[in-house]
Amino acid sequence: MIKIAPSILAADFANLERDIQRVSSADYLHVDVMDGMFVPNISIGLPVVKAIRPATALPLDVHLMIVQPVRYAAEFCDAGADLVTVHVEADTRENIRAALDQVHERGKRAGIVLKPGTPAEAALPFLEDVDMILVMTVEPGFGGQKFMADMMPKVTALRRLIGQRNPACELEVDGGVDPETAKICIAAGADVLVAGSAVYHAADIPKRIAELRG
Ligand code: DX5
Ligand code: ZN
Repeated sequence: MIKIAPSILAADFANLERDIQRVSSADYLHVDVMDGMFVPNISIGLPVVKAIRPATALPLDVHLMIVQPVRYAAEFCDAGADLVTVHVEADTRENIRAALDQVHERGKRAGIVLKPGTPAEAALPFLEDVDMILVMTVEPGFGGQKFMADMMPKVTALRRLIGQRNPACELEVDGGVDPETAKICIAAGADVLVAGSAVYHAADIPKRIAELRG
């Protein structure tokens, strides 16, 4: 079954509790953490994760767009993240592995993220050790960008590798996902879809979440 992860980056931050409750029919709540270094934007961090934890029953899918995520992975777990994903481009292989280990040591799920320019092969060293692989379908940093359909061969290649080596791992896509591009992602092999604008700009949010599932 396809899972939907609304991104609160597109929510109204002055009404965050209301906007989180509006997506309660989804499967995850996607939280984009940006540090102004790994990506050219600053969004939200630990205090917000802590504050929203009691406001929803959905698992928190925390996407760390920060340099050297090993510095903060454990703290995001303690703040209430259920799943923490780190960019493979954000540090050395050893430190990315250390970040994943810290998340697992806290009993949480861990994943890796690949930017558009990063090939599927970059996931290979971590394939058996992750619960999620996230393929960016826009350059990370901002919501509301155009979906990159040319990422679909990467999604299909990773779906094949996951099937062979770690079938329990989920395969997520993030960026420009709407009811039309969702179909393309599902056909390519994705099973978790992040959507910010497509969810929060919809007139009927529960209906839009259902549409995205296909
Ligand atoms: C971009 C973020 C995305 C973003 C998606 O860096 O990782 O999660 O919120 O927004 P939309 O769905 O509007 O492209
Ligand atoms: Zn994201």
